Amino acid sequence: MASTILLILTIFISSITSGATSRGGLFETSAVEKHEQWMARFHRVYSDEPEKRNRFHIFKKNLEFVQRFNMNKNSTFMLDVNEFSDLTDEEFRATHTGLVVPEGINKISTLESRLVVPFRYENVSDTSESLDWRQEGAVTPVRYQGTCGGCWAFSAVAAVEGITKIAKGKLVTLSEQQLLDCATDYNQGCVGGIMSKAFEYIIRNQGITTEDNYPYQASQQTCHPTTQSLAFPAATISGYETVPMNNEEALLKAVSQQPVSVGIEGTGAAFRHYSGGIFDGECGTDLHHAVTIVGYGMSVEGTKYWVVKNSWGQTWGENGYMRIKRDVVDAPQGMCGLAMLAFYPLA
Ligand SMILES: *[C@@H]1O[C@H](CO)[C@@H](O)[C@H](O)[C@H]1NC(C)=O
Ligand SMILES: *[C@@H]1O[C@H](CO)[C@@H](O)[C@H](O)[C@H]1NC(C)=O
Repeated sequence: MASTILLILTIFISSITSGATSRGGLFETSAVEKHEQWMARFHRVYSDEPEKRNRFHIFKKNLEFVQRFNMNKNSTFMLDVNEFSDLTDEEFRATHTGLVVPEGINKISTLESRLVVPFRYENVSDTSESLDWRQEGAVTPVRYQGTCGGCWAFSAVAAVEGITKIAKGKLVTLSEQQLLDCATDYNQGCVGGIMSKAFEYIIRNQGITTEDNYPYQASQQTCHPTTQSLAFPAATISGYETVPMNNEEALLKAVSQQPVSVGIEGTGAAFRHYSGGIFDGECGTDLHHAVTIVGYGMSVEGTKYWVVKNSWGQTWGENGYMRIKRDVVDAPQGMCGLAMLAFYPLA
């Protein structure tokens, strides 16, 4: 037993030493230091040495990715290591996103949004050059969904908070936990869900309560029995609509009127490590995450962007927000598919 431990220890020490003396050794040493600093900064504690070594290797890979990326000074955005940097892309996607799009919804909404579904903002023509619903007082502080695939609840809540402020003049912080626990028709709490089903629940329930009444737990619980009465004073919606699909012009019309819930592919290494600027990095249109668009504008260099409210805490991106490229040429789906699946609730 003791000899086994000694052997493991010897291998571990020699692997560190050889790492430090081989080519790239300086990087290895500074990566070890950076990992230690990072662990202290984000209060990360690992259960044992093998786990720590495993996490260090993932961290180092992410660190190298970030450093290599930032050498390109021509990019419109920057990356940084953040609290997710000891996770692989797959782990991150499994634990910090959570949009689940029903089979066939893309085909259905293409048809419906073009032909059937009303889009009340279709004739909006006086959109200003820029708009930030944060400055209009219609956006609550950025939250952190934790290790829970509940992005859909955060996306829906931010949109309901927005329309409540715009229509009723009061900004209230609403409960994602209520949606995780109670909006279980199709949606599955931290396993995943979709914003439209969250809106349907709020309509059926005749409202949603405040965060204070029903605080976030980052895990699915039993639906609170007094939800109905708690809901009464907080916020209600009368319906919701879909923005015509793959149409950033239509999306602009909607966002000019209220914050809009959208699906997005937000799981790549660049997106996950975004720290500022206007994102136009590598990503596809595999919608696995949900966010809320709370504004739009144009940089001094003339790059148009959307302002996205995320639910990965305030240390991610620009204090929890991302500016992401708007009006992408030859990609009607929008950057990372953000124009493919967009909903807004009605007051
Ligand atoms: C830098 O960015 C500009 C604008 O996007 C582009 O036109 C130019 O080709 C880029 N230069 C390099 C070296 O990538
Ligand atoms: C937009 O304008 C057209 C033409 O005037 C009209 O037929 C349509 O009903 C309007 N749409 C809405 C949502 O008001």
